[in-house]
Amino acid sequence: MELPVVRINEVSKYEGQDVELRGWLYNKRSSGKLHFLQVRDGSGIIQAVMFKGDVSPELFEQADHLGQETSVKVRGTVRADKRSPLGFELGVKDLEVVHEAREYPITPKEHGVAYLMEHRHLWLRSNRQNVIIRVRHTIEKAIRDYFDQNGFTLVDAPVFTPSACEGTSTLFEVPYFDLGKAYLTQSGQLYMEAAAMAFGKVYCFGPTFRAEKSKTRRHLTEFWMVEPEVAYMTLDEDMDLAEDFICFIVQRVLEKHEKELVEVLERDVSKLKSVQKPFPRITYDEAIERLQKAGHDAKWGDDFGGDEETVLANQFDRPVIVHRYPAELKAFYFKKDSNNPKLALGMDVLAPEGYGEIIGGGQREESQETLESAIQAHNLPMEAFNWYMDLRKYGSVPHAGFGLGVERTVAWLCGLHHVRETIPFARMMERITP
Ligand code: 4AD
Ligand code: MG
Repeated sequence: MELPVVRINEVSKYEGQDVELRGWLYNKRSSGKLHFLQVRDGSGIIQAVMFKGDVSPELFEQADHLGQETSVKVRGTVRADKRSPLGFELGVKDLEVVHEAREYPITPKEHGVAYLMEHRHLWLRSNRQNVIIRVRHTIEKAIRDYFDQNGFTLVDAPVFTPSACEGTSTLFEVPYFDLGKAYLTQSGQLYMEAAAMAFGKVYCFGPTFRAEKSKTRRHLTEFWMVEPEVAYMTLDEDMDLAEDFICFIVQRVLEKHEKELVEVLERDVSKLKSVQKPFPRITYDEAIERLQKAGHDAKWGDDFGGDEETVLANQFDRPVIVHRYPAELKAFYFKKDSNNPKLALGMDVLAPEGYGEIIGGGQREESQETLESAIQAHNLPMEAFNWYMDLRKYGSVPHAGFGLGVERTVAWLCGLHHVRETIPFARMMERITP
């Protein structure tokens, strides 16, 4: 008789029935008449119990020698088992080896991170990494759902671009036929500004690139960013949007993954449950004051690195929004504060627990003349921005948006020390393989 082929995360629907599971051997131990086989299939891990009396002597002997990550089809009866994390186990009736694996390089013992990153193509099979990447999937789905449900149109931005958006020091150059060179995009923002004038509320979501020469736990050279942009939106409304959006993502991750966050990643989820609106909002001036009071030698005009962000964020139990940074620290496109033109109408959202900036954004300069002088002041080539200037020539309006980095968000929600584990195949200054 053909058995239903079932994924491990769905076995609860088959209690008492015979099923076939298709997966890989994750781990095993034996005691006399029993083999306890941990079988994984990507959706979960189940303990398959093989009792000597239930199978042929040859199969029982074979099962004693299966290498870790051998691919197997296992047939048997789904039984409730309160002691197992899954709540079910499989009483094995038959096992078929699909492909034998010998001397799998990642054993249950501890390995160093460099070794694991070198074997990332295999490391993805481990339970912890599996949970992290599934949380990432949930976050990406939540991002799309949020904007799709709130009237935004998805507009894809190009990856090859003619100019810098976020400063010339982190551009990746690519030879581009007779046109000379192109750059890998640092941000889709400028294109989203064009799209916002066409569709009102838009977002793009894709990979972005920065030739970051910094080897920190927060920087990748290739990372995913979602960037909403809204016509007629001001800085205050931009902060409202960022706050509502983050709460939605955190809520969704808790709904879907609370158990795994606690049991597999040992995440303190009480810290995530306090992520509720409203988020505290402080000006850059106030941030400097707070840093100084905390004994930090920060002075007005300094940019914030990881240390400053951590000191500030630790003063709150939820993300904090810092707004109105000195304009000279920020990119050319920011609108200046009319009350004090030294300040940019920009904001950063800093995640709690030392995870740092997860969102950067703000209100854009809509005046043609002011923007032209800003482009000159930043020594950017005007010709590359002619199209962008058109947005200020024909029906220019106030507008704003932001970018949220997916990897930093995954690191924060999963409680990971380094962003390298938040993306399937990390790209960093010193890593391009696997
Ligand atoms: O603050 P950033 O540079 O902002 C922009 O690119 C704007 N143009 C976005 C916009 O307004 N549409 O980057 C936004 C976010 C950061 O807050 C951070 O989460 C992430 O992108 N990010 C990085 N993540 C990983 N590695 C890097 N090298 C990153 N650089 C930025
Ligand atoms: Mg930033």
